[in-house]
Amino acid sequence: MQADIEMVKALLDGSKRVVVLTGAGVSAESGVPTFRGVDGLWKNYRAEDLARPDAFEAHPELVWEFYNWRRELVGDCQPNPAHYALVEMEKQISNFLLITQNVDGLHARAGSRKLIEMHGSLWQLKCTTCTHAREDFSELPPLPECPVCGHLLRPGVVWFGEPLIPGVLKVSIDQINKADVFLSIGTSSLVQPAASFYQLAKDHGAITVEINIEPTPNTGFMDFALHGKAGDILPELVTGLGEF
Ligand code: OAD
Repeated sequence: MQADIEMVKALLDGSKRVVVLTGAGVSAESGVPTFRGVDGLWKNYRAEDLARPDAFEAHPELVWEFYNWRRELVGDCQPNPAHYALVEMEKQISNFLLITQNVDGLHARAGSRKLIEMHGSLWQLKCTTCTHAREDFSELPPLPECPVCGHLLRPGVVWFGEPLIPGVLKVSIDQINKADVFLSIGTSSLVQPAASFYQLAKDHGAITVEINIEPTPNTGFMDFALHGKAGDILPELVTGLGEF
């Protein structure tokens, strides 16, 4: 494993174009529960049961209660060494893109700027009726209303069955197609389209690397699979990057 870390480090050092995909595992060490981990249930609901338009339509108060709980929980969490290592990687690699499935905003709080939040953000609100949308970190009422038209607001996250934010997929794919190295970190690789990004990267000649505490359905197809915590492995990968 140490030999693999050194090889990935050397690859990163020689790379001009790196794309990183992250999932909930990258925030696990900050105290944010993963979706499919042991503490992934909220009041016996799975995220997939609540993060969907039909659930919001039928039970807006329940779905908002879930999101207000997540906002409060994440608001008390801090970025961890994995988030900060990716900020460092962004500084050292000339063409870098971080694509996250996470809606917790911790990459941005750590300082990542070349960042796509492909599933939106807990801190974005948008109106269910008009075009009003805003970033809002404050405590919200149980059913927040739009200040413009008075209709119900919803979290600015992408729910199951909804299309991605326009343009997000195109920008992501364009960068993945040009990557020298593609890293998939802390994701179970079960949710599309992100789960297939590694394949695109591979088809276009990138070296693929997975960092996870356990194997995923994609592990066997990766050039390198680094088994361990993102908060341990990523700081090792960026230490000395750019100094070779
Ligand atoms: P999951 O909860 O499915 O997977 C988290 C992954 O992180 C698992 O593979 C864990 O093994 C791994 N993991 C946990 N702790 C880790 C650590 N310290 N270091 C490295 N890896 C660790 O979360 P996602 O793959 O992000 O979508 O889930 C993908 C999407 O499904 C989410 O964005 C969300 C969800 O339902 C929507 O809400 C649309």
